Amino acid sequence: MRQPEFRSQQDETLRMRRTLKARVPLFTLALAASALCIAQTAAPIPGLSLTTLDRMQGPGWWPTKGISPANAYVGEAACAKCHINIVATQHSTPMYHAAARAENTPLLAEHPDMTFHEGPYTYAIRHNNSSVSNGVATAAQPIAWAFGNGEYGQTYILESSGQYTESRLSYYASLHALDITTGHSTELPSTLEKALGDPLKPDTAQHCFSCHTTEAVVSDSFQPEKAIPGVTCEACHGPGAKHVATMTAGQDDMSAATITNPASMSPTDSVDFCGACHRTWSDVTMLMPANIGIVVVRFQPYRLEMSRCWGTAGDPRITCIACHNPHQPLVQSTAAYDIKCLACHRALNGRRANEPTQPHVTAPACKVGAHDCASCHMPRYEIPQTHASFTDHDIRIVRARDTLPQ
Ligand code: HEC
Ligand code: HEC
Ligand code: HEC
Ligand code: HEC
Ligand code: HEC
Ligand code: HEC
Ligand code: HEC
Repeated sequence: MRQPEFRSQQDETLRMRRTLKARVPLFTLALAASALCIAQTAAPIPGLSLTTLDRMQGPGWWPTKGISPANAYVGEAACAKCHINIVATQHSTPMYHAAARAENTPLLAEHPDMTFHEGPYTYAIRHNNSSVSNGVATAAQPIAWAFGNGEYGQTYILESSGQYTESRLSYYASLHALDITTGHSTELPSTLEKALGDPLKPDTAQHCFSCHTTEAVVSDSFQPEKAIPGVTCEACHGPGAKHVATMTAGQDDMSAATITNPASMSPTDSVDFCGACHRTWSDVTMLMPANIGIVVVRFQPYRLEMSRCWGTAGDPRITCIACHNPHQPLVQSTAAYDIKCLACHRALNGRRANEPTQPHVTAPACKVGAHDCASCHMPRYEIPQTHASFTDHDIRIVRARDTLPQ
């Protein structure tokens, strides 16, 4: 499920084009960002989103950063000794199940025989093996990994002599069947080998693993065979050996000094933190091609910072973690988010039910609706080839004449 590839950090023209497109208040900040990148320093400026590449060059831990040695990690079983409730709920999140080795993939076990037809080709995914036949010859490769929990899709990574190939076919939940992988050409492949999928360049494979697994890159070296499947504790909090040793020794006052806690970050840093995998505002504006189209709706940090609710530097009430608990499954009821909107917006009658108006609740009230705010102001858009729709995090008044987001 590839998304637009990042371009070179040095592509100034591209960067300018994208920053000019951005809303005005961030323009000056974005220029400052360009200057920062050129200088190769990554000191964060309050309110300024940085690219994940810049974040990774900065000091300290950042998700997807792979410089720590293997022995700095302890694995989530160690965390469970003291944070048992968080471990328990985190196991039920799709993030925890973002990748699995083929033999441990529930979806493959439940669907042991999947087929797909395309022109002269008959594809089959059986017993962790992917094959394609044109009636005369057959090409086949073992499936090494399944990427994606299958909330809407799951993509298979084939492996042959250390070369990873992204399968041409993915499983889609809404179809209960295989179809062409998001981002792959829909034209008929010219050879059986090409029909199996697209070989992944080593750095592309490393990117996939960095976002979907833990500890795939240690001491700056890509070691996919040692990766821990899924986004586990240390994928977000960083390697935990020091924290565990200090806590086991009873030095509880050292907890914050020994592990990254995003709770204490500024709003922009906090959103960039999730953006290490969900793509930051700067990742999209500076490193992705212009006009990539509706696919930007998948990049929530970018969309959120486009919203007037965000303002220029954000607010703790509108970070990702204000609405989502990363240790728990996504809440799938728009009404449940009303309270998040009403932390800033006045209610219809100027106050919340049975509550005096609070001084910090200063954003205007809606004249149209009193509940299910997100259903009107955070519309869902279907993204081509994904067979799924995504929630637009650019919170706004949606008008019929609006063009689709891009
Ligand atoms: C021996 C017990 C112990 C183990 C093992 C342990 N922790 Fe902790 N952790 C604590 C204590 C005690 C605190 C401080 C009190 C609190 O916030 O619960 C803490 C705090 C934290 C914090 C908040 C830091 C702060 O104070 O701002 C995070 C994040 C955290 N732990 C993550 C982890 C992760 C990830 C692991 C596994 C790699 C882990 N812990 C393993 C005991 C432990
Ligand atoms: C190390 C990479 C990484 C980081 C950091 C990360 N995510 Fe994710 N997130 C993912 C991946 C990968 C998925 C897709 C999981 C799947 O369905 O296979 C995902 C999915 C999600 C989902 C969708 C769950 C669903 O039910 O569909 C939510 C919500 C989410 N992340 C919130 C967050 C928040 C909030 C943060 C910041 C605190 C965050 N993520 C940080 C990688 C990450
Ligand atoms: C920069 C981080 C990043 C990279 C690189 C990345 N992903 Fe993801 N992936 C995510 C996040 C975040 C999500 C969840 C949000 C979304 O679907 O847009 C996701 C979602 C998915 C899903 C859908 C999950 C579901 O439950 O429906 C699949 C499948 C997937 N990715 C496969 C891949 C494959 C295969 C690669 C490499 C070729 C890859 N991803 C590279 C971050 C990443
Ligand atoms: C997707 C990223 C992500 C993953 C994975 C993750 N955390 Fe967290 N964790 C966070 C964020 C963000 C916060 C700050 C939450 C807040 O303040 O609302 C946090 C806060 C914490 C805290 C501080 C206390 C609290 O509840 O706020 C502890 C302890 C903790 N995490 C432990 C863990 C453990 C143990 C795991 C693995 C089971 C884990 N986390 C997995 C992102 C993550
Ligand atoms: C951090 C506080 C905050 C949160 C949380 C918040 N907003 Fe806003 N919102 C604002 C501010 C400030 C404005 C700008 C008001 C102005 O300029 O008059 C705004 C503007 C809006 C607008 C008008 C935008 C436009 O395009 O003109 C809508 C609609 C809106 N918010 C809906 C929501 C909804 C729905 C939620 C919850 C999903 C929400 N807001 C959450 C602070 C917030
Ligand atoms: C004002 C509240 C709010 C904030 C802030 C917010 N989200 Fe969401 N998010 C939602 C709502 C509402 C949904 C749709 C839930 C449902 O399925 O009904 C959602 C859904 C998602 C999904 C599931 C896929 C989809 O598109 O439906 C992901 C992933 C996600 N959010 C990530 C993030 C990340 C990352 C951030 C920070 C940039 C963030 N969210 C900030 C309210 C919010
Ligand atoms: C049925 C759809 C719907 C629902 C539900 C809804 N809104 Fe609105 N909202 C609208 C429309 C349409 C407008 C634009 C009205 C106009 O043309 O001025 C609007 C306008 C707004 C504005 C701009 C007000 C101004 O004076 O600038 C805000 C803020 C807002 N809504 C917030 C919310 C919040 C918060 C909720 C939940 C408590 C909510 N909305 C529920 C449809 C809705």
